[in-house]
Amino acid sequence: MKIISVVGARPNFMKIAPLVASIKKYNSKNKSKSLEHILVHTGQHYDVRLSESFFQDLNIPQPDINLEIGSGSHAEQVGLTMIAFEKVLREHKPDWVVVLGDVNATLACSVTAKKENIKCCHVEAGLRSGDMTMPEEINRLVTDRLSDLLLTPDRISGENLRREGVPEEKIRFVGNIMIDTLEANRERAARMNIQDIIQINSIKNETKPGTQGPVTTPYALMTMHRPSNVDQKEVLEPLVNFLIEEVAGQMPLIWPIHPRAIKQIKAFGLWEKAEASSNMVLLHPLGYHDMLRLNMDAKIMLTDSGGLQEECCVLGTPCLTLRWNTERPVTLREHGGASILVGNNVDRIREEFRKTLAHGAVPKSPELWDGHTADRIVELFAGEFYS
Ligand code: UD1
Repeated sequence: MKIISVVGARPNFMKIAPLVASIKKYNSKNKSKSLEHILVHTGQHYDVRLSESFFQDLNIPQPDINLEIGSGSHAEQVGLTMIAFEKVLREHKPDWVVVLGDVNATLACSVTAKKENIKCCHVEAGLRSGDMTMPEEINRLVTDRLSDLLLTPDRISGENLRREGVPEEKIRFVGNIMIDTLEANRERAARMNIQDIIQINSIKNETKPGTQGPVTTPYALMTMHRPSNVDQKEVLEPLVNFLIEEVAGQMPLIWPIHPRAIKQIKAFGLWEKAEASSNMVLLHPLGYHDMLRLNMDAKIMLTDSGGLQEECCVLGTPCLTLRWNTERPVTLREHGGASILVGNNVDRIREEFRKTLAHGAVPKSPELWDGHTADRIVELFAGEFYS
């Protein structure tokens, strides 16, 4: 059986790593009916810190094919990916295309596969935020509608698919593949030194060497990159002011900044103020182990990332999710997780920030978030779906 799997942007890389490792393990034990695997990178993320560093840190082999589509509008990214991926499919004629998560590569390659009459498997199927202004929600809906095999990370996602009329035989509950990566890398991350991570990745040190001092505990950790939070000045400005004055007013705030966020912060004239605050620890985007290490000891997380919501759930880090909705309700406090939705209204964030500081870490691994999801996926391909 020949499988092409596709990655495009940062959150895909921690999901493909365990799948590549499981296929390799399966093939070493089953030489006569091995799975042929071709890894395609669409090239949506191309910076070393957003792409290559994850391949190195997580032992992902170099992609067999890189479509090098780069940055652009959504239509440009999706269109260019489809044109390039169609050629790949016609040349390699795989039995299955495997897409992961909800980025533009997921949408572009599931549509292209189905138009070429190739079966498509979606890893992380069934997540729904209900928010059609999120590009990721559109990607999820289209991909799930088209896919032949929908692999869900939790039981709520399976119910979402059933409600939409997806036939039972297409749905398999396999667990959360990103947690395979977390479990496989916990020990290595735990051995890392927090002050080294800060010094090596500091933005302040680049402009004025030696200006970033050591970070004391407790500290807060944050990330923010969603267009809904960073693209409008009237949203971003009060958020950044709150972060500088009220969060960093109490404790160091470590912020690895996504390229989209840094561009907007600078465009809206907020950068100098952030840089001038001694408690604002401004970092470049971090590698996988660096981020995991900082998360392990954080007093509180503020983020609009879905992946970090999940990692906080398993590590127990109290998490303020800077969104009004989530496609990952299993990570919320009402389901035993660590996260609470606070949106991007400063009054609401302030109130929950104050209350949440009283919380300690409460780790929770939802059902099948056990580090063995990729093995379950490979078993499916090797067994039931073997053609
Ligand atoms: C994408 C995903 C999002 C995911 C996020 C993680 C989609 C629809 N969005 O959003 O779901 O949470 O990745 O990072 O697929 N840029 C660089 N270097 C790069 C890539 C991008 O500097 O290697 C800059 C460019 O200016 C670009 C901007 O970041 O315009 C945004 O990149 P883009 O790939 O469009 O989307 P993300 O916001 O990263």
